[in-house]
Amino acid sequence: MQYKISASILSVNFANLGKEIDALIDGGTDSIHLDVMDNHYVPNLTFGSDFCKAIHQHSPKINLDVHIMAYNIDPLIASFAANGAHSITIHPDQTVHLHRNITEIKQHNIVAGVALNPATPINSIEYILDEIDQVLIMSVNPGFGGQKFITSSLKKIEKLKNLITQKNHDISIAVDGGINLDTICSIKDAGADIFVIGNAITNTDNYLETIQEFRTLLSR
Ligand code: DX5
Ligand code: ZN
Repeated sequence: MQYKISASILSVNFANLGKEIDALIDGGTDSIHLDVMDNHYVPNLTFGSDFCKAIHQHSPKINLDVHIMAYNIDPLIASFAANGAHSITIHPDQTVHLHRNITEIKQHNIVAGVALNPATPINSIEYILDEIDQVLIMSVNPGFGGQKFITSSLKKIEKLKNLITQKNHDISIAVDGGINLDTICSIKDAGADIFVIGNAITNTDNYLETIQEFRTLLSR
């Protein structure tokens, strides 16, 4: 299994953004995870597509995983697609027309993801499983980095993994929130493919060493 690490920059020092991105890429992250927040869907405010564009221009080769936690997503999908997003992940309760939004993401030739909050059931995406490339299981309530992993997420990952395997869907399972050196093994064992990690990397002094520690655990 080719596990992937996607480093979230939510908790980096934004005054040093270019250096932070370089250190994560040099440290071996597979992608950079961008948390787009609007202070309405979640109680926090972050960045728009200009920010994505700046990172894409700084480091054109790294995949940028855009996780949108905002309302009024139609214009956001188009603008992130035009500004370097490799994947775009949206939440079902942000939109009246989830299928249409997913179709639009795919039309831009971008990896399409759907995120499930801790209380959102898997059956909310039952009828779009043929359309999507990845499911992002939120293992914290969205909005902030540095929160504690919600353990009921493990059952949800297992259930989703079984469903995907049974129905032979080509869908990756990503997990986002509270992943650290203590929690990653149980998340891997539950069936995750992609690990979105913020504080447990960016709160350390040496991103390369930390990412290597995660990889060692994933290789066991
Ligand atoms: C939370 C975000 C996460 C966050 C994860 O809403 O979606 O991507 O950055 O941060 P940690 O790993 O610190 O929980
Ligand atoms: Zn995220």
